[in-house]
Formats: sequence, structure tokens, C-alpha cells
Amino acid sequence: MILITGGAGFIGSALALRCAAAGQRVRVLDDFSTGRRDRVSGNPLIEVSEGDIRDPAAVRGALAGVGRVAHLAALASVPRAELDPGTAARVNVEGTLVVLDESRRAGVSALAYASSCSVYGDAGERPIAESTPLKPLSVYAVTKLAGERHVLLHHRTGGPPAIALRFFNVYGPGQPADSPYSGVLARFCAQALAGERPEIHGDGGQTRDFVFVADVVDALVLALEKASGGAGGHAFNIGTGRSASVREIWRLVADAAGAERTPTFGPVRAGDMRHASADTREAAGRLGFRARVPLREGISRLLRSAAGNLADTSAVGHS
Ligand SMILES: NC(=O)c1ccc[n+]([C@@H]2O[C@H](COP(=O)([O-])OP(=O)(O)OC[C@H]3O[C@@H](n4cnc5c(N)ncnc54)[C@H](O)[C@@H]3O)[C@@H](O)[C@H]2O)c1
Repeated sequence: MILITGGAGFIGSALALRCAAAGQRVRVLDDFSTGRRDRVSGNPLIEVSEGDIRDPAAVRGALAGVGRVAHLAALASVPRAELDPGTAARVNVEGTLVVLDESRRAGVSALAYASSCSVYGDAGERPIAESTPLKPLSVYAVTKLAGERHVLLHHRTGGPPAIALRFFNVYGPGQPADSPYSGVLARFCAQALAGERPEIHGDGGQTRDFVFVADVVDALVLALEKASGGAGGHAFNIGTGRSASVREIWRLVADAAGAERTPTFGPVRAGDMRHASADTREAAGRLGFRARVPLREGISRLLRSAAGNLADTSAVGHS
């Protein structure tokens, strides 16, 4: 059985559905702070356990009969972590330590950790390789890096064999679009469909590497397969290797949705990186990971799901 912490979240639920579609039994541990039960309910292969990763007893219970762990539970929002650094640290760092300690005790054979490209800070170089110096610029990034370091340290010191995946900007069906904390592509799609003009932070020239959620699920599956091999104990970039500016993606979304093209511009957001695109060679060579969904196709799948006519399972696989 696989345990997915944060399995009711955007990415975790896509992984849960993929594993269940492959016939694997899954247990989801989630406190539903941002996750949604309906994303994973009703599937006989998915067991849902409500609990907090900071609670050792809850994690111990959720680990019963589990061989592998995908650890995705986190306070996953940059602005929320700025507003509440204490909770961000307790969930993302202390919670990760609880998951690691209990996984060690339970003899877990593989652990995949959801890290973030934010650990690089404003790297100033493109594309960003894993060897790029880590200079986190936000509370969120500091906590994700601390979690990553603990995961890789445990790997070296007799804890669960582990791989950390530094996700770039993940997007796709199922991503919430209804708050200022939502991913930019999800928000743009919702706004384009509602006929609204989005507010872009800064001049919109900042670039991001947008990676479709089904590709990220591929990476998590590979990490769980390979954590006990030569790739174990390492962190890998999970992106497409291509970048698009925020202005450009609004244009793509607006065109695909037939919406008004002119956005409005607001202040730059604290802690934002200027440019981000992944150097994907390490992940390709050592993990066997390659993103497959091109941005235009991903945007059109996201728009169809936001318009309500695409089944949720579209996030899980490659159509
Ligand atoms: N979405 C992205 O672009 C992106 C990029 C880089 C890294 N990540 C990382 O990927 C992971 C998943 O992100 P997501 O976008 O699916 O976010 P999400 O908020 O949808 O998922 C996080 C899940 O964790 C749960 N959770 C939060 N605190 C918990 C706790 N104390 N105990 C148990 N469950 C708890 C939430 O309820 C939610 O279901 C996170 O670790 C995030 O830091 C995401």
C-alpha cells in the first residue's frame, strides 16, 4: 500500500487516482485544510484517513501496512506562509520530521518528497540546474528546503530511501482557481471564462516553467520506484525545460478562451522569482523523467475542465 500525505490536495489526489487506476491500494492522510474529500472519495482502492502530519499517532496509524510514502502534505502557499510563518514551519518542517521518524520506524522502503523550485530563490541563471546555489527568498521556500534537507539526511542515516522532487509551476485540472493564493494559470483560466481581466504582478515579464500535473504524477511514480537505487538521496528538478512569461500565458489563455487580451498590472509580489526554467537533464538521465504535455495542450485541458466539461480523471493520465 502507498501512503499519500496531502492526498486530498491538488497534486496528491491526482497521484492517488493514478495509483488506484493502476490497481494499487492507496491511503490518503490529510487534514483537509486545503484538500477536498470529494477528490478521492468513492474509489474502493483509496482509503481516506483524516489527520495531521504533526501528530505522530495519526501518522503511525496511517503507516500501518504501508510500503511506500509520497509526502505532499504542506502549507503550500507562498503568501499564506508569509502571513503565518510559524504554522508554515510547524507543518512543512516539523510535520516532515514526524513523517520521516514514523516512516523509519515502520520500515518504509521508499519516500518521495514534494519540494519546490522556490528553493533556488532568484537564481539569475537560466535554465536552473540542481547544482545552482540555493538561496530561498520566502518563508515558504525556507520551509520546503528545510524539509528537503531532512528527507535527504534521513536517507543517508538509515531512514527511508528517498528522492526529493523540486516541482516548478504545477498546473492542471483540479487546481483551485477561486482565491488570490491559487496558481496563476488556474486563476487566468477562471478569469478568462468569466470575461474578467486579470491583474498581473509587476510587468508580467517574469517567466515560469509550467508543468502539467499528469507529468508531475509521472515523476512521483518514478521517484517511488527509484528511491532505493542510485537516484536515491538526490533532489531533481521537475519541469519542462521551457519557460513562458506571465504575459505570454495570459495571451495563450485569452486566445484559447476567446477573451479580451489586455490585462491590468499591479505591484510586484514579495518573494517572487524573476525567471524560472528547469534544467531537466539530471531528471531525464537519472530518474528517466520527461514532461510530455505541451503548454498549449495543458492550457486547453485546463480550460475545458474549468468550463466543467472534462472529467476529473483528465488530471491523472496522458490523453
Ligand atoms: N502546486 C505547485 O505548483 C507546487 C510547486 C512546488 C511544490 N509544491 C508542493 O507540492 C505539494 C502539494 O501541493 P498542492 O499544490 O497539491 O497543494 P494543496 O494545498 O492542494 O495540497 C496540500 C495538501 O496537504 C494537506 N495538508 C496541509 N497541512 C496538512 C497537515 N498538517 N496534515 C495533513 N495534511 C495537511 C492539505 O489539506 C492539502 O490536501 C506541497 O508539498 C507543495 O509544497 C507544489
